[in-house]
Amino acid sequence: MEEQTVNYSMPRIGDKAPDFEASTTAGPLKLSDYNKDSWVVMFSHPADFTPVCTTEMSAFALDKDWFAERNTKLIGLSIDSIHSHLAWVNNVREKTNVYMDFPIIADLDMKVATKYGMLHPGESATAAVRAVFFIDPKGIIRLIMYYPLNVGRNMDEIQRVLTALQTADECNCALPINWRPGDKAIVPPPKTLVEMDERIANTEYEKVDFYLAKKSL
Ligand code: BEZ
Repeated sequence: MEEQTVNYSMPRIGDKAPDFEASTTAGPLKLSDYNKDSWVVMFSHPADFTPVCTTEMSAFALDKDWFAERNTKLIGLSIDSIHSHLAWVNNVREKTNVYMDFPIIADLDMKVATKYGMLHPGESATAAVRAVFFIDPKGIIRLIMYYPLNVGRNMDEIQRVLTALQTADECNCALPINWRPGDKAIVPPPKTLVEMDERIANTEYEKVDFYLAKKSL
């Protein structure tokens, strides 16, 4: 039998998000069309009808308006069939009244999971790990999270980093540790001696020193 080679390469922050066409619970989806003029948060889960995955996918469904208000579309993915996805979505709706109606990719041939480095063979050879990809409206991967099979993600952090990415773009600034809306932003450090002296003389910013200054947004 011919040996199959699996490509375990991973996309990186700053890469163009690999395009794909896939079958989803909302019908066929082409990433580059879906992503036009909006952010996309794409997340994989190991398997339908499993407890941790159900809590995570339900959390995305419950917060879908929060994402829509931030011009962000959702895509789920697992290496399960469309029939399995439909049965699971219906089961969760019947049992908990939560409707996971964002597109969920049925990645049975693992094409999308392979392109996005969601297969980590040391963790599982057949199930995707818990990945989250933040893709901006230009189709660039801006942030990646990978979690193992046995630890669920943190919705608060997912929302914090999406807000931070969008805010950093708007203010062309950087954001410090644990940044939250309302907190100050980092002013880019000076790059010349003249800029350094200007920064030393500046009384407007909250300064630790010339290279670490913060301002209100
Ligand atoms: C879960 O979602 O509960 C789960 C899925 C795969 C492995 C372990 C836990």
